[in-house]
Amino acid sequence: MAKKKAWGGRFDGGTDRFVEEFTASIPFDILLYRQDIAGSIAHARMLGRRKIITRKEADMIVKALSGIRADIESGKVSFGISQEDIHMAVEQLLVRRVGRIGGKLHTGRSRNDQVALDLRLYLREEIDGILVLLSRVKDRILLRAEECFGVVMPGYTHMQRAQPVLFSHHLLAYHEMFTRDEDRFRDARRRTNVSPLGAGALAGTTFPLDRESVAVELGMDGVCENSIDAVSDRDFAAEFLFASAVTMMHLSRLSEEMVMWSSSEFAFVSLPDAMCTGSSIMPQKKNPDVPELIRGKAGRAFGNLMSLLTMMKGLPLSYNRDMQEDKEPVFDSARTVKECLVAAALLVEGMAVNEERMRAACDDGFLTATDLADYLARKGVPFRKSHEIAGRIVRYCEAKGKRLKDLSLEELRSFHARIGEDARDAISLSNSVRLRNTRGGTGPEKVRGRLAGLKKK
Ligand code: ARG
Repeated sequence: MAKKKAWGGRFDGGTDRFVEEFTASIPFDILLYRQDIAGSIAHARMLGRRKIITRKEADMIVKALSGIRADIESGKVSFGISQEDIHMAVEQLLVRRVGRIGGKLHTGRSRNDQVALDLRLYLREEIDGILVLLSRVKDRILLRAEECFGVVMPGYTHMQRAQPVLFSHHLLAYHEMFTRDEDRFRDARRRTNVSPLGAGALAGTTFPLDRESVAVELGMDGVCENSIDAVSDRDFAAEFLFASAVTMMHLSRLSEEMVMWSSSEFAFVSLPDAMCTGSSIMPQKKNPDVPELIRGKAGRAFGNLMSLLTMMKGLPLSYNRDMQEDKEPVFDSARTVKECLVAAALLVEGMAVNEERMRAACDDGFLTATDLADYLARKGVPFRKSHEIAGRIVRYCEAKGKRLKDLSLEELRSFHARIGEDARDAISLSNSVRLRNTRGGTGPEKVRGRLAGLKKK
């Protein structure tokens, strides 16, 4: 049996040792110590301003809390299961420093609004960190898209070669995705950065708190308007996990392409040695472990979102201890997204692009068959008909073992009288790309314009 708890007044005996361990969150919510202390400092100052405690008491508490933070930072403090969670642990340290005055800090507050605040402050910070990393990945993408401008690669649908595209255009597709990811995080941040302090356990408090000034001091944009909602909901955390999951999905697809592209079958890119590992048995191997791990880690990000949603879905209002389970998925996703963004930036920056291999892949596989059909359509042949003719030409090529560009004008003409001198040009790779000049298309003029626009931003 362990020693007396802060909430031990109504208890006869101590807590079972197993139950202590089972219910403790200190092993993981120690991560929230900075947020917890920041919240407590703001709360204590406000208690002083409102004369709920004396100014002197408030000053003592604030000073001691800053000292505790410094001690935790320098590794001078160790935590144990009996402290239950970070909130209790900090309060215990405080009482150890300032005696019974420390017991005044929790006036007008509950761990329920306290923990909601801590998680909001934590997520706000994590979002800001993720936004920096996202913009770094986007910068790398822009740089490579600029540097590789003009490189043509096969675009795919169904994993079959479809139409030639600029490699830059393909890279910039990810840029667009990551921009939307940024938007999602920023949007989630707006709803996260609101203060629940003052909600108390669930109903508000009997003390004349100044909730607004605490929110301002903590850099928050407002206060939760309903005390029950303030301690009950974790939708802001779910939004964070969703934004993380989508970002991981994008990173995973980029990684999958890097894994594929760096295979001997594709050989479109080679990854830097520093980002690959060898095999313990096969001497020739250079394995793309880093993109593989990003791809693999997407799984946990999706799982974390599902964990939180499932944990929350059946809870009656307001706080329930189930909600302690919100933290580990959130911490895990934050760490995972950040690591993977760091890795992705390095991969994008470091991959060497094999222009010849990409071009060779475009020559094989009739990638400009659509251009042939478009050509005939421009000559007045209905597109359905021209599609069929181009299809027959492809079949002919396959039978003869030829590529589209190997066909002579005579051979082409034998399929339709309107095929003229300019047909061979129209089905060249460069024309195929150049003519796709619609807004958002792979035409170099449009891609260059988008690149310039994005750079300005
Ligand atoms: N460790 C708890 C959590 O993470 C803090 C809140 C506990 N509140 C309570 N009434 N038991 O949710």
